[in-house]
Amino acid sequence: MVAELRVQRTTRKTTKKTIALVPTMGALHEGHASLIRLARRRADRVIVSIFVNPAQFAPNEDFRLYPRTFAADLAALAALNVDLVWAPAVETMYPGDFATKIVPEGPAQAGLEDAFRPHFFAGVATVVAKLLIQCAPDIAVFGEKDYQQLKVIARLARDLDLKSRIVGAPIVRERDGLARSSRNVYLSPRERAAAPALCRVLKECAAKIAAGQPINDVLAEGREAIADAGFALDYLEARHADTLAPAASTMDGPIRLLVAARIGNTRLIDNVGV
Ligand code: PAJ
Repeated sequence: MVAELRVQRTTRKTTKKTIALVPTMGALHEGHASLIRLARRRADRVIVSIFVNPAQFAPNEDFRLYPRTFAADLAALAALNVDLVWAPAVETMYPGDFATKIVPEGPAQAGLEDAFRPHFFAGVATVVAKLLIQCAPDIAVFGEKDYQQLKVIARLARDLDLKSRIVGAPIVRERDGLARSSRNVYLSPRERAAAPALCRVLKECAAKIAAGQPINDVLAEGREAIADAGFALDYLEARHADTLAPAASTMDGPIRLLVAARIGNTRLIDNVGV
């Protein structure tokens, strides 16, 4: 219950302990663990939320099939010394008469994830705003794995004068470079073998751009290489690392390369800095 969470939270606040929140949808893996360890270093107490948020899934997406491993998640969180697990029921977050939605603009309309998942960031922004209000943490940690999401949430916190500081954490990868994701379990052995191409192409493109090759040529080659590896590409883009505005040259500021592509029925995203 939200009321119980608030009591717990207030007790911690009155003892002057700093609190970090790490929001997740469960199916925890090493990427989540790295966020939790970062939270541990930055705050006295760590809250991890587990909530598979129906509002950020479109009807044709994988809400019902999304991996749910609650018992294993709780064991992993105990081993990571998490102080409180906040796992609300859907009815707690969205009672039947729920009628409010936060629809972010700016980085949420960059023409990246939003172009392929039009309702996604309204679902994310609404649930993250609720989690930040419920837990009122001093900091909240999000992964760079979901780079556009991180930028959307940082802007949300600023625009709504939320007191929590939004902290970004680096991407955790498998040994072959594939970014860790709860959705990697969907990959067949053949798809899993092809998947590291995404990260390899991103790194090759970043090196070429850093060496001065024209961005548009590099991206065109990268798009072909991703298709050749067996992916259906949604986008491969070079964007300003902070604003996510299109970047035509390294003169436009720090650049982030972002990719989303589908292999079989699984959609993967990744990104690297130049
Ligand atoms: P979820 O996909 O469970 O991810 C929770 C957090 O873990 C996000 O901040 C995500 O960026 C981070 N993360 C996932 N894989 C990572 C990796 N390989 N390296 C580093 N960080 C990684 O993102 C969501 O849940 C939801 O949209 C949420 C923010 C919880 C709102 O519902």
